[in-house]
Amino acid sequence: MEKKIEDLEALTEEAKRFVETLAPAANAATLVALSGELGAGKTAFTKAVARALGVEETVTSPTFVLEKIYLLPAKKPFKRLVHIDAYRLTSGAELAPLGFDELMKDPSNLVLLEWPEHVADALPAPAARLSFTALPDGSHKISYG
Ligand SMILES: Nc1ncnc2c1ncn2[C@@H]1O[C@H](COP(=O)(O)OP(=O)(O)O)[C@@H](O)[C@H]1O
Ligand SMILES: [Mg+2]
Repeated sequence: MEKKIEDLEALTEEAKRFVETLAPAANAATLVALSGELGAGKTAFTKAVARALGVEETVTSPTFVLEKIYLLPAKKPFKRLVHIDAYRLTSGAELAPLGFDELMKDPSNLVLLEWPEHVADALPAPAARLSFTALPDGSHKISYG
């Protein structure tokens, strides 16, 4: 499935729709892999997901800090939104210092990961794979698959 997203309002709607398709697994975190070039819209999508889940604090790109964890309000299916940017990593082993294995064991974690290709050797099968493209007309495309 492909969606063309014209603006941030449409992105907010799409993120809301997407999070509603996710449900916690029985014994592992829910991993969402976000692929696409720099500027394709991975962080913007994560921000929209965070808003859809009721995160009120500002969500910024974790490119330098690698990982950010947001606590979600009660009554959401997940307790934590974990945002990881693997852009600067060169192998899955570099996820270990982030406590990635522990994070992935907890079904109450929703993990959104940018640049999954950089750490592919350490990733379990994601619940969803999204691929982002910035289009010449200024809109953004999301491919689900
Ligand atoms: N669907 C969208 N509609 C409008 N602007 C967008 C959309 N997605 C991303 N942008 C804008 O494009 C720029 C780069 O997006 P970003 O999410 O930081 O890319 P990435 O994380 O993939 O490198 C940001 O300024 C962001 O606001
Ligand atoms: Mg980004």
